[in-house]
Amino acid sequence: LEMNEGIPLVFGDISLVERAIQNLMDNALKFTPIGGEVVVKILAGKDDVEITIKDNGPGIKQENQALIFERYRQMKTGQQGVGVGLGLAIVKKIMELHNASIRVFSRPNEGTAFTFHLPVYNV
Ligand SMILES: Nc1ncnc2c1ncn2[C@@H]1O[C@H](COP(=O)(O)OP(=O)(O)O)[C@@H](O)[C@H]1O
Ligand SMILES: [Mg+2]
Repeated sequence: LEMNEGIPLVFGDISLVERAIQNLMDNALKFTPIGGEVVVKILAGKDDVEITIKDNGPGIKQENQALIFERYRQMKTGQQGVGVGLGLAIVKKIMELHNASIRVFSRPNEGTAFTFHLPVYNV
């Protein structure tokens, strides 16, 4: 976990956001081989907080990066039996409900990072 102290509260549905983070961490842990590294990074900006779940696993080809958010869509990773391809479709829906978007940064053999932002909750 990489996060500074004093991260502000954000505006969001706690159980839906937990579910989204869970789905992203499940994938990172599932696709990254033993001995790899999974990092959850939380970075506070002025108006929003950036959450990144990053691994150094097999990565996702550029041409597949838009497809993985479709339901029941799984790429050839050798782990297709584990899960049914709904995780990222659910993450995308949760982000839409929050008016946020989920972005993927990945290169084959280098790893994958998923990032989203939630607005700071001003009391
Ligand atoms: N961290 C990751 N590293 C490599 N591939 C990933 C990662 N996360 C998702 N994927 C790819 O995206 C596909 C869809 O993910 P998801 O919707 O969670 O379905 P599932 O986990 O059931 O396969 C996965 O089958 C995999 O091919
Ligand atoms: Mg999954």
